[in-house]
Amino acid sequence: MLFDAIEIGGIDLKNRVVMSPMCMYNAAHDAKATHFHMEHYASRAAGGVGLVMLEATAVCADGRISDRDLGLWNDVQMISLSHIVERIHSYDCKVGIQLAHAGRKSEAATTPFAPSALRFSENYRMPKEMRIQDIVQIKQQFLDACKRAESIGFDVIEIHAAHGYLLHEFLSPFSNKREDDYGGSFANRARFLLEIVKELRTFYTGALFVRLSAVEYQDVVCGLEESIALARLLKDLGVDLIDVSSGGNSPKLPSQIFSGYQIEYAKAIKESAHMKTAAVGMIDSYELAEKTLTQGAADLIFLGRELLRNPYWVANNAYQYEKKNFMLKNYTRAY
Ligand SMILES: Cc1cc2nc3c(=O)[nH]c(=O)nc-3n(C[C@H](O)[C@H](O)[C@H](O)COP(=O)(O)O)c2cc1C
Repeated sequence: MLFDAIEIGGIDLKNRVVMSPMCMYNAAHDAKATHFHMEHYASRAAGGVGLVMLEATAVCADGRISDRDLGLWNDVQMISLSHIVERIHSYDCKVGIQLAHAGRKSEAATTPFAPSALRFSENYRMPKEMRIQDIVQIKQQFLDACKRAESIGFDVIEIHAAHGYLLHEFLSPFSNKREDDYGGSFANRARFLLEIVKELRTFYTGALFVRLSAVEYQDVVCGLEESIALARLLKDLGVDLIDVSSGGNSPKLPSQIFSGYQIEYAKAIKESAHMKTAAVGMIDSYELAEKTLTQGAADLIFLGRELLRNPYWVANNAYQYEKKNFMLKNYTRAY
């Protein structure tokens, strides 16, 4: 199945391998894309993936993790990204962008924003608890970035609500101690993300993914039930796929990290929320990727470090496993 085409959210992917979003800390200081990004993303498109998902791209300056992150809050940044979109499309590959706000994990902001004034760890700055007008403003920045992304031809928008960044901080009871409409109950903690998605869907009809951390690693592994409930709500609002990751909202790591360690969460969300999912995380062989799809745990496979090491992962594996069919279908034009 890995090399079979699939339609998701109205876009046709030529196969089910996606380059996972990965910050490269190589943006210009004004958060513009550079020649590095062009080579970096185009080479994975040339290597045969069906979809390249650009790294976490900040919706405002203080939403960057570092001052070398990509941004999409002005037209200059938009133009720099438009060249990458065009190049990736020239390889018959689709391209998405992950829109993000780093929240309390921003090292670019002097005083980072967060739902509550709680540090991520002692190595991070003390964040400022967001006022309602700050929530309204950041919501608008997500919508504006989405409009810019759509206008330059991105095929997929992914909202980054995982890994302990701003939207995840709101979702999690460990980082959100608010007592207003955006904190407390699950419905309140989910409000910020749901409002962004709802408003985005009033004008954006393209493919929409959301990355969630399905579980948190606190003293115990927790949060899966709420992630399933959230996936159901997101589906109702028109989200096409949940990209299922985990952790990141505390310095604690899972007790064991093994090949495909997050696949079970993609499966749980797919089965319980009847939502399309992507699996990610140490999917380090063709066999594991294929098994994940055939066992119905996910619809797409996101590859991160495998593709950093080997931009031609798809071409190599397709040649080995699918032989001529795939090569003829996908490479006659390019090579
Ligand atoms: C260098 C690097 C940068 C990353 N940046 C992002 C990011 O911008 N957004 C995100 O959601 N995940 C990010 N991740 C996580 C990856 O998308 C992926 O989920 C993770 O690496 C697990 O997949 P893998 O084992 O195939 O690498 C990053 C990972 C790496 C290694």
